[in-house]
Amino acid sequence: MFPPGFFDRADSSPDHFFYSPTRLVTHIDDQAIAAVGALYRDLGLTGEVLDLMSSWISHFIDPPDRLVALGMNEVELAANPQAHEWLIHDLNDNPRLPFDDNSFDAATCCVSVDYLTQPVEVFTDVARVLRPGGLFVVTFSNRCFPTKAIRGWLYSDDAGHLEIVRRYFEAAEGWGEPVTRRCIPQGIPGDPLYAIYAAA
Ligand SMILES: C[S@@+](CC[C@H](N)C(=O)[O-])C[C@H]1O[C@@H](n2cnc3c(N)ncnc32)[C@H](O)[C@@H]1O
Repeated sequence: MFPPGFFDRADSSPDHFFYSPTRLVTHIDDQAIAAVGALYRDLGLTGEVLDLMSSWISHFIDPPDRLVALGMNEVELAANPQAHEWLIHDLNDNPRLPFDDNSFDAATCCVSVDYLTQPVEVFTDVARVLRPGGLFVVTFSNRCFPTKAIRGWLYSDDAGHLEIVRRYFEAAEGWGEPVTRRCIPQGIPGDPLYAIYAAA
């Protein structure tokens, strides 16, 4: 389904080297951040939520009852005001999530899916830890850390990125039909924001 070299990266060193410097920054502009929050509200993400590839900001307008933030940088995760719990876990080193089956009502992954080298394994495991019907909401814009993004992502445009994530959902086990959304209408200046989500 994915050609040879698709998941290669310019920087193939272990991810903890790249992510050990703390970056208390935003990776998309305010309008795109607001669009992520509006999407989560519109989709009714609530209850127990897992924010994958998280940092110091999880973008919820309505914070869930319990938010678990998983990422790579301790200082960033500890600074996340919406996270009730956080953990360091390298999904490229181990795509298996350290949670029991049916642990969460929803999962999110914001502006980070392009860094996964084993996304199908990760998506399959997200379905395992979600309760039946739980949504996995993946959002992205058009920026990235190019040395850490997979080659297939760098060689694709926005429409291609939606198609790539659609194929992740389709190749993984446990997902219903993915739905795509352009969260900021075309022609509006600023960062674009795309979403693709499916139910477990
Ligand atoms: C562009 S930042 C996005 C952070 C946050 N989701 C946001 O919306 O601002 C990319 C994030 O992906 C996380 N990340 C990168 N590689 C990872 C990996 N192998 N396993 C887990 N998280 C990873 C990093 O810790 C970083 O916080």
